[in-house]
Amino acid sequence: MELDPLAFQGTAEYYSIGRPPYSDQIVDTMTRELSLDGAGQLLDVGCGPGVLELDLAGLFDQTVALDPELGMLQEGRRRCTQAGVENVRWVLGVAEDIPGLGLEACRVVTFGQSFHRVRRMEVAEVIYDLLEPGGSMVLISNAVDGRPRPDGPGYPSIPNTPVMDLIVAYLGEGTRQYFATWNEGQPARFEDTLLKTRFDGSRTVYAPGRPDLIRDIDTVVANYFSLSYAAARLFGDRRDEFESELRGLLREHSPLGLFWVWPGDTEFVIATKQD
Ligand SMILES: C[S@@+](CC[C@H](N)C(=O)[O-])C[C@H]1O[C@@H](n2cnc3c(N)ncnc32)[C@H](O)[C@@H]1O
Repeated sequence: MELDPLAFQGTAEYYSIGRPPYSDQIVDTMTRELSLDGAGQLLDVGCGPGVLELDLAGLFDQTVALDPELGMLQEGRRRCTQAGVENVRWVLGVAEDIPGLGLEACRVVTFGQSFHRVRRMEVAEVIYDLLEPGGSMVLISNAVDGRPRPDGPGYPSIPNTPVMDLIVAYLGEGTRQYFATWNEGQPARFEDTLLKTRFDGSRTVYAPGRPDLIRDIDTVVANYFSLSYAAARLFGDRRDEFESELRGLLREHSPLGLFWVWPGDTEFVIATKQD
């Protein structure tokens, strides 16, 4: 099954507020692993609300941020302008459109939690053609499985299972199948996909995730509404009813209204084009 490239419609502001950040060592890790020196072009595919631009645009001469959702590009531009990040060009489109965009060769192409949303083999080959010799494609995501879980600051974790049951009660059982159907026929690991492309493999490094994120109920609710399968618009005229039940459930699990969130370590799957 192919994914709807507009699945994130209406989620941009919730995304900025609710999604936990990547490692605070993302800049150091990228600089070290890719021997960056401030030159060259970065293309960030599926940029969302400028998440990676805020951290990484300063490591390059110029950055192109690509996303099919206009609201994401507008929110990304707003956040970067506010932060004084000015070397970003915001482009509306999907990864599969890249060959027709007339982009200059890139030193680095990033996908921040977005490679799973594209036609992976096809897009990896497109990126291979776009990279400078020696340039790299970097797939960045949060990794929980197999990573050492740090000690938390003592607040409860978000009750994901009952919240998922609540979402399903409103949106139907199909919500649970969302990821399963969509990954059908794809290798489970990005590394295995990359082995079948001209990159002929990849290497994976990790930067420590943030161990001390404490989120209030507003932020947790925003995070749920930022998910493509639980986007606020999907609840239609029952949105307020859902939100009120969600808030009640969260309060039951944390009378103080605070939760510890460990997003996992930040994973970088790096595939480099040979010189
Ligand atoms: C989970 S968000 C990731 C946002 C951000 N990169 C991050 O690291 O948090 C996935 C993004 O991919 C975008 N997207 C979906 N399908 C896409 C496609 N075919 N090509 C490029 N981007 C796509 C969505 O609009 C969304 O903004």
